[in-house]
Amino acid sequence: MAPLTATFADAWPDKVNAHLADIGDMFQLGEDVLRNITTRFLQEFNQGLSQYGQAMAMIPTFVTGVPDGTETGTFLALDLGGTNLRVCQVDLNGDQTFNLKQQKYKVSEQLKTGEATALFDYMADSVDAFLTEQSSSPTVPTGSGPDSLSLPLGLTFSFPVEQTALDKGLLLTWTKGFSAKNAIGKDIVGLLQNAFDKKHLHVKCVALVNDTVGALLSRAYTAGGASCGAIFGTGTNGAYVEKVANLAKLGNHPAVARGGDMIVNTEWGGFDNSRVTLPSTPFDNKLDRESINPRFQAFEKFISGMYLGEITRNIFLSLIDAAPKPILFGGKATPQLNKHYGLDTELLSLVEAAWEDEEHLAPSDALPPTATDKHTSEEDGGKIDDAQLLDFTQSLGASRLQTATLHRLQRIRTIVVKHLGYSPEDVSLRDAALVRWACALVSRRAARLSATAVATVAVQMGRVKGIGSDAQVQGSDPIAVGVDGSLIQFYPRFEERMREALRVLIGEEGEKLVKIGLAKDGSGVGGTHTCSLSLHCALSSQ
Ligand code: BGC
Repeated sequence: MAPLTATFADAWPDKVNAHLADIGDMFQLGEDVLRNITTRFLQEFNQGLSQYGQAMAMIPTFVTGVPDGTETGTFLALDLGGTNLRVCQVDLNGDQTFNLKQQKYKVSEQLKTGEATALFDYMADSVDAFLTEQSSSPTVPTGSGPDSLSLPLGLTFSFPVEQTALDKGLLLTWTKGFSAKNAIGKDIVGLLQNAFDKKHLHVKCVALVNDTVGALLSRAYTAGGASCGAIFGTGTNGAYVEKVANLAKLGNHPAVARGGDMIVNTEWGGFDNSRVTLPSTPFDNKLDRESINPRFQAFEKFISGMYLGEITRNIFLSLIDAAPKPILFGGKATPQLNKHYGLDTELLSLVEAAWEDEEHLAPSDALPPTATDKHTSEEDGGKIDDAQLLDFTQSLGASRLQTATLHRLQRIRTIVVKHLGYSPEDVSLRDAALVRWACALVSRRAARLSATAVATVAVQMGRVKGIGSDAQVQGSDPIAVGVDGSLIQFYPRFEERMREALRVLIGEEGEKLVKIGLAKDGSGVGGTHTCSLSLHCALSSQ
């Protein structure tokens, strides 16, 4: 009897095909799955609106109005949310336009994970440095009394903070790789104000907003209205306009007597933390297990820029380590690939752009074919189509590819070599095809899952009734969504793939009502949204 391994090795190409098909299936989100996720999403929304302490926090923001573009004034804003800290000065011109001066400051790993006081001191130092650099200073007073000489500052703080007022909120948890000590449960505005006061800076933090709320407000300012703000970037989250009457957990809070609407910060990144609905793959489980917040931010870990690269790295490693024969890169890994979070989501974006866009890299930038790519040409005969690129029962010689496909794969090889530290001869055309396949699996799933969150908001706001084939649009007003974040802005086809899934969930009519607009200025500067909120705060305190 032939040894088992020999039988397996003989059937290897078929086994590889089956193995890749299995992985592909794990990442597919069919219509039923999308609908189930959305149904569960709506349940978690309502649990979060009724009770404090739920996985999806559904945080009341105490922002009860939305700008219409006529607001004026000059404000300072500070924005902490990911890689950078931004300090901005914004002049709102009252005609839906604004002028912005901003400075970015890097937030080191040490600041993210050290003592919170060091992080807040650094934030205060950055504001100090910014003000020193600016020749003209903001001039709007906060009101009368001892604070009247202070500059009003709006803080965009892109983490889950349970707000008790517009200028007060307790940090619930850190996300996105932050874990600074002694901040959880503390008032974020208090921590920042202490840091300002210690430095005798005449700056007063008058408002605290999540970036999603900032996105909603700033879109409302520039577009004359918006009812949802969403971030698809390093992290993901959404905010929308809810009826105060639905916020049962507010109990007897005076806001309830006032009624009307209030913006709710959903913190949808924490959806399905118990993972009963999200279809986790082994690649997701590994990511979660090795993260600094296992079992938290489940939804975010499927969707956002902080994690997509890591999921893809996990797929690559499993293909590199495959037995009895490696499937990818001839079994070779590089220091970049071996490093936790060593594959940036930007690589996925570059690979997909190289596949999509003929102009992305001139063919002259492409690396020449490797020996394996060249050798298979003569004996293999006819051309193969793109769907066959991953068929391991067929060899993949350069001459068997359409010219356009060859150029696409060559461009992807160039990117892999440049960003993952391989030598050109380590990366075959087949490897390039596998890389593109894995990137598309991960990003397409992310975009489709993003649609479940947007659909949930549309249904929760009563703009659509029913999900899937039952979906019926209510009224014809647009559902205006102000968005920000690298995925929605720059990732090839992210919005298109999200819209495909939206059509499944809220029907074609519903999908058409969803008007997605960037919540930032043309030069791609972030953090401006904070300022429109500080305007709100200043106006309401006058
Ligand atoms: C945070 C949210 C934030 C989102 C986008 C998430 O990790 O929990 O508060 O809005 O990232 O920045």
